[in-house]
Amino acid sequence: MSAEPLEIHLEEQDLGRSLRDDVRTGLTAEEKWLPPKWFYDARGSELFEEITRLPEYYPTRAERAVLAERAATIAELTGAKTLIELGSGSSEKTRLLLDAFTRRGGLGTFVPLDVSVSALRQSTAEIAVDYPGLRVRGIVGDFTRHLDRLPTGGRRLVLFLGGTIGNLLPAERAGFLAAMRAALEPGDWLLIGTDLVKDPAVVVPAYDDAAGVTAEFNRNVLRVVNRELGADFDPEGFAHVALWDPRREWIEMRLRARRPMRVRVLDLAVAFAEGEELRTEVSAKFRPEGIAAELGAARFAAHDFWTDPDGLFGVTLARAG
Ligand code: AVJ
Repeated sequence: MSAEPLEIHLEEQDLGRSLRDDVRTGLTAEEKWLPPKWFYDARGSELFEEITRLPEYYPTRAERAVLAERAATIAELTGAKTLIELGSGSSEKTRLLLDAFTRRGGLGTFVPLDVSVSALRQSTAEIAVDYPGLRVRGIVGDFTRHLDRLPTGGRRLVLFLGGTIGNLLPAERAGFLAAMRAALEPGDWLLIGTDLVKDPAVVVPAYDDAAGVTAEFNRNVLRVVNRELGADFDPEGFAHVALWDPRREWIEMRLRARRPMRVRVLDLAVAFAEGEELRTEVSAKFRPEGIAAELGAARFAAHDFWTDPDGLFGVTLARAG
């Protein structure tokens, strides 16, 4: 079957408005920041795919190992009719689950949701070809805002993989999980991937690779703002920084001004002092007990928790209570 046309729940103008709001809020803050969702234009999505193949970036390989080992169990336990994937990107690891559901039978519909039209267009087309008989309904949307647009009816399994939940701040995470639970019926399932707390000597290089791919990915947000809002950032004027915060147990990516700069964007003139930093991403790392507690607070019951053989990455299967 060919994929259905993408359902757009994020119109161009809607996207433009939220980018403008985020840029205004983030660049006029005392400590400047931009949200990580703006990395993912076509080039940003490609750079991220390149990151997942880097020797230092362990999360993708570790999560894939868990899914490869547990996919059949997940298909059997959940018996899902509809598979929904939030922040689906290329849906590359999701194929392990689609394969298991295909062998088991009973899965009718796959619904990937992503902000990146380019990534979604490609992934829906490829999956529709490779899984004939599966209905593929791509949704262009923001998983922090469009959970009420998900399809209803039939046993559902929602996938939130890659550790993307770690890109939300703790309060945003609680809000996201509550909204997720509100969008589901009791008995529906959630499969959530979380990078685990570990030696910073392992985590930091994953966000500061020798080949400099992550640095390019980080600077890409400035290119997106330049193109979409006509700003005049000099991306090369900023150095890539990856910093482990031991208290909050998260990685921060920042862009550090190499010299004083003045950037025109919207109706603003944004001044950067030499050495001033712009925070572009938080990537939280989790402990098993913390994951279960956050899920419980949102009325999900953790059903299983699995890790890869090296204990780097966790995958939790939870059920809406
Ligand atoms: C897969 C989106 C969660 O935080 O590890 C990769 C994004 N940032 N390198 C992560 C990312 C820097 C990634 N997510």
